[in-house]
Amino acid sequence: MKGIICYFSTTGNTKLACGYISSKVRNVEFELCDITTERIPKFSDYDLVGFATYCNFWAPGKLMKTFIGNVKMNQKKPAFVFNTFGQMNGNALSIMAKDVKSAGFKLIEAHALHVPENFPPLIKNGTTNEEAPNITELEKFNAFIENLNNKAKQICNGGNVEEKNVKGKILYKVGRKIMTSLKMDSIGKKEVHKEICTSCSLCSKACSYGAIKMVNGYPEFDETKCESCYACFNRCPSKAIYTKKFDGVGHYPKPHPKLVKKLKV
Ligand SMILES: Cc1cc2nc3c(=O)[nH]c(=O)nc-3n(C[C@H](O)[C@H](O)[C@H](O)COP(=O)(O)O)c2cc1C
Ligand code: SF4
Ligand code: SF4
Repeated sequence: MKGIICYFSTTGNTKLACGYISSKVRNVEFELCDITTERIPKFSDYDLVGFATYCNFWAPGKLMKTFIGNVKMNQKKPAFVFNTFGQMNGNALSIMAKDVKSAGFKLIEAHALHVPENFPPLIKNGTTNEEAPNITELEKFNAFIENLNNKAKQICNGGNVEEKNVKGKILYKVGRKIMTSLKMDSIGKKEVHKEICTSCSLCSKACSYGAIKMVNGYPEFDETKCESCYACFNRCPSKAIYTKKFDGVGHYPKPHPKLVKKLKV
């Protein structure tokens, strides 16, 4: 059976978890598709489709929403949704589930995995979650993978798999609206310490929204395109990007070594 997992990951946590899922689901041969660099795949070539991203202010990473919104399936292709989160997942999974169903897929599984935090404001305050996932969370993740494996086998044998429902909570919906209206989800104006910037252009490549242009060897930010994902800030190897509130602290350049160890395949 062939499958594909379309993922959006800003600092690698979700990508790492997708690699783990792909290696553990024995009944499906998965390809991984990075939605920031690849076109919408030909889904008819696959028997099972996964959508995976990170939690962004109680919702899925914005690029994933746009990506799913551009997909139209006219057959009920089996699909699953997955996301990683740092503190509180809010409606991230239920929004993705709803979007995937609206795009014409049949949702058969859904899971959210607690992992280390990559949100600089929290890391700066000492909230890093570096022990996540704990044993129970890891067991639940593995149970989700086993379910996926069994359902894939059922589909392969022509069996019927029930459609899954993921309910959202109105409280998170309202809370998110308030956070957005107060601009709590905004990174703010970004600048560069030119004296420490090495002109490597990694920030510009890391920006999935085309908001960074390299000009005379230094990044220039188009604030109208910026979606406040912190990828440029987190991944700059020199910690040269700063804002009024965040300068030189709170970075999460790549998956925490403890997470890498737990999700080793
Ligand atoms: C801008 C931003 C917003 C975030 N919002 C949330 C959130 O609302 N709830 C949560 O639990 N984690 C939140 N996180 C943490 C990430 O979802 C988490 O660390 C995730 O694993 C990052 O995945 P990635 O490395 O694949 O991008 C946020 C991170 C960022 C950068
Ligand atoms: S990633 Fe950092 S060092 Fe590299 S170009 Fe961007 S700001 Fe400069
Ligand atoms: S410029 Fe904005 S959208 Fe682009 S990587 Fe930086 S924070 Fe994310």
